[in-house]
Order: sequence, then structure tokens, then C-alpha cells
Amino acid sequence: QEDVFKKIVSHCKEYGFVFPSSDIYDGLGAVYDYGQNGVELKNNIKEYWWKSMVLLHENIVGIDSAIFMHPTIWKASGHVDAFNDPLIDNRDSKKRYRADVLIEDQIAKYDEKIEKEVVKARKRFGESFDEAQYMATSPRVLETKQKRDALHERYAAAMQGPDLEALKQIIVDEEIVDPISGTKNWTDVRQFNLMFSTEMGASADGAMKVYLRPETAQGIFVNYLNVQKTGRMKIPFGIAQIGKAFRNEIVARQFIFRMREFEQMEMQFFVKPGTELDWFPKWKQTRMAWHQALGFGAENYRFHDHDKLAHYANAATDIEFRMPFGFKEVEGIHSRTNFDLSQHEKFSGKSIKYFDPQTNESYTPYVIETSIGVDRMFLSIMCHSFEEEKLENGETRTVLKLPAALAPVKLAVMPLVKKDGLPEKAREIIDNLRFHFNCQYDEKDTIGKRYRRQDAIGTPYCVTVDYDTLKDNTVTLRFRDTMEQERVDIARLNSIIEDKVSI
Ligand code: GAP
Repeated sequence: QEDVFKKIVSHCKEYGFVFPSSDIYDGLGAVYDYGQNGVELKNNIKEYWWKSMVLLHENIVGIDSAIFMHPTIWKASGHVDAFNDPLIDNRDSKKRYRADVLIEDQIAKYDEKIEKEVVKARKRFGESFDEAQYMATSPRVLETKQKRDALHERYAAAMQGPDLEALKQIIVDEEIVDPISGTKNWTDVRQFNLMFSTEMGASADGAMKVYLRPETAQGIFVNYLNVQKTGRMKIPFGIAQIGKAFRNEIVARQFIFRMREFEQMEMQFFVKPGTELDWFPKWKQTRMAWHQALGFGAENYRFHDHDKLAHYANAATDIEFRMPFGFKEVEGIHSRTNFDLSQHEKFSGKSIKYFDPQTNESYTPYVIETSIGVDRMFLSIMCHSFEEEKLENGETRTVLKLPAALAPVKLAVMPLVKKDGLPEKAREIIDNLRFHFNCQYDEKDTIGKRYRRQDAIGTPYCVTVDYDTLKDNTVTLRFRDTMEQERVDIARLNSIIEDKVSI
């Protein structure tokens, strides 16, 4: 599975999806650029989200707020004081790690150990194996499970606060080693704020310290009354936004899963106090349905309900997707109470209460938030679509089975040969289609090689122009997934493709 992931990462680079930032300077840690195909896929993901959230919901509107915001906002939201990671250094390797991640990896090791025991036992007992009974009775499994649960409990307790000394003690007691040097020379655990800061203006009194937003949500909170009043929105209503966010993450080779500059698609849904726990499950289902509509198979998704809640939440869950490196969070859904709005009232000194014209009462709305990372969604789509397919003739073809609606290029048009008027005919066809879809013209190399190039970037349709085309205005339409070909009228191309690729 690790190998598959490596292949996906190099495929992303080789085919113009994702490049390391500042590549010719050997890259910049956890920062990436999207190439010619990556930007198209990313834009399609954003459009797919925007259409389903904003255009299909009468009571949700969009905004685009600035990345820089008044610094007091991050005081009010709790990010200045509480948006920290507990870090620990190893004196030998001089590497810095997140203490919580080291411990979570240790918990995962116990899980793996249990899993291995189960696999061994299944082999030993064959058909008659009863997994539930084995889990409940095997002394080896029970002992590991007990250690795992005790560690989990200790860890959850240490993360409240968090208690930095307790985190360090866990690392010492569990004899956790540096994954690079294999040594146990740990420093104390320190808190490290994840927000990037910079300076704004240069007046005589000095510049003001401002932050690059670590989430887009606060731009929605501080604008909610502007939007509510100017849009005459009635509760319940939502505000959606897509935009960049920045976090100074400590990461090791996670590609675009955890980045320092990334993009979020967030929606805050403002509801009447007391109704938030009715809305929370509704949004869970709506968002899960959105993911599953891509057709990747329900078995590849799961909810991970949080038992450890952030300071602002009274319910929270993640939608996790099966990546080659395990089930991982792609989206968070949080019931954020009225925490953010009441904090902004307190810190700004302005009333931002909602006036309900029906009941004549004013109140601070509660908020359900859905928050998904564009880049993580991108990664999950790449991971699911990447296939090395064994063909009947013994060859392997690398194909990206992207949902047609998200594919960067929808259609490639290819003249069979570079002469006898075929290129001109192919150009004529593509010129009629390029207003509707992202098309590519390709006349280089054999037709087989050209098909493979399009397979590798996930183009769902290829059109080949041959000598018959000049006679009867038909072309060969080739389908990416089945590699089947069909003879169709040029006049029908637009509607055939439109039907499959519209978002
Ligand atoms: N406003 C709530 C919020 O920001 P979060 O769970 O911290 O919640 C939401 O982030 C989503 O943003 C995550 O589910 C993930 O998809 C994405 N995300 C968060 N940090 C990220 C990072 N460093 N790199 C890429 N995506 C990230």
C-alpha cells in the first residue's frame, strides 16, 4: 500500500497534477503547486461542492472574505491561546515531532498487533474461526487490548488541557523511539502555535501583527449579520466559502494530505438555539451522500464520531475515506454552539444578535459547520482513481478512472495521421466543442500511445478522425474505462459527452 501511494505521488508530478513548491530550489516543506491538470481537477471539485451547497440550497449563499483579518478575531476565536500542537524534540536526530501523533502511532501499533493475531488465528482455524469469540477469549489479544485501552485512556486525559508533562511521561513509559534515529533522547513537550503571522503597515507607531487565517470559518462568522441583513436571510440559513487557509504544521512526507498552505470549503449553518442537535445528523447525512455520489463505494467511507470535543463544540464527527495509508479524515462536521458568535460579540463590543420577526425575539444563533479540505478531497479522488490495469495482451496500462464530471480534460481529438486533411477536420471538430468542454488536440505518436497519455490524465473520451470521417462525418469515440469504441456522428458528440460530464 505504501508503494501504491508512492506511485500516486510520482504520477501526480509526471502528469502535471501536483508539483513540489519551488521545485528547482529543492522544494519547500509541505507546500505544493497544482499543475495544468491539477488545477482543472481542483476547480471541478470546487464547482461540484459549490453547486451542491450554494446553488441547490435556497437558504445557503456564498461569500469570499479576505485572508487577512483583524488580529482580535483570532483572540476571540481562541486560536491565539488554544490553536497549538504539543511538540517534542529528539536530541539525537534533532527532529521535531508532534507528541500526540507519536502516541497515536503507538496506539495504532497495538491495533496492528491485534489484527496480526487475528489473521494468524484465522489461518490456523480455517472455516470454523469465530472472530468475536477469539477476540473475547485469546489471552494474547486480551493483554494487548488492555494495554491499548489503558494507553488510550491516559492519552485522552493528557490531551485535556493539554497536560504537557503527562504527554512526555507517556512517551517515556511506552518507550517510544524516534522513527528516524531509533533513540529515546526526548526533550520536554512544548506548545507551538500553528498560526503564521506577518506585519501589516508601517506607521510611526510600528506595524500591526496580523495572522494568515488558519480556517475560513471566521470570515463567515464576522460577516454573518452583514449577509443576513443584506440578503434578508431567515434562520435557518447557511453561508458558504471556499478559500486558502494556512497552518504551520509539523509534518513528515504526507504529500498534500497535510499542508502548510491549503484550501478549505466551509459552510456555517445558523440555527435556532436548541435545534442544533436536530440539524447535526441531517448535515452528517447530507455530506456523506455528497461524497458517496461520486460512486467510489460506500465501504470506502466511515464516520468517526469524536469523544474528545474541541472547546467550541457540543458534537463533532469526521467523514473518513479509505486512503492507501488507512482511513483518514477528509471532512469535519461540528456543532459549534454559539461559541464563535458570542465571543465576537464580547470582543468587538457589538451586538450581532439575530432578530426573529415571527417570534419577536433576539438571539445568538447556534452553528453547524461542515468543513472539507479541497486538497484532501483531491488526494482521495486520485487515490481511488489510480489503477494499473493488466490488459489481455499482457501489457499494463496506467489509468485514472476519475468521475467524468471531475476529469481535467473531457475529450481528446486525434487525427489518425498527420496528412490528407485529417488534422484540419480534427481541428474543425474541436473548435466546435471547446466552448463546452476542456478539449485537447493531439497528433503526435501512434494512436495507441496517444490513448495511453489520455488514460493517464483521466480523459473519459477520445475521438479519432480517420479517412471515413471525411466521407460520412462520423468519428470513432473511445471510452476510457472499457476501452470500447463506437462509431458516432460528429453532430451527436456534444450531447453524448455533455450528458456524462456536466457537474
Ligand atoms: N473550521 C473548522 C476546521 O478548520 P479542521 O478539522 O481543522 O476544522 C477541516 O479542518 C478540514 O480542513 C479537514 O477535514 C481537512 O480536510 C482540511 N485540513 C485541515 N488541515 C489541513 C492541512 N494542514 N492540510 C490540508 N488540509 C487540511
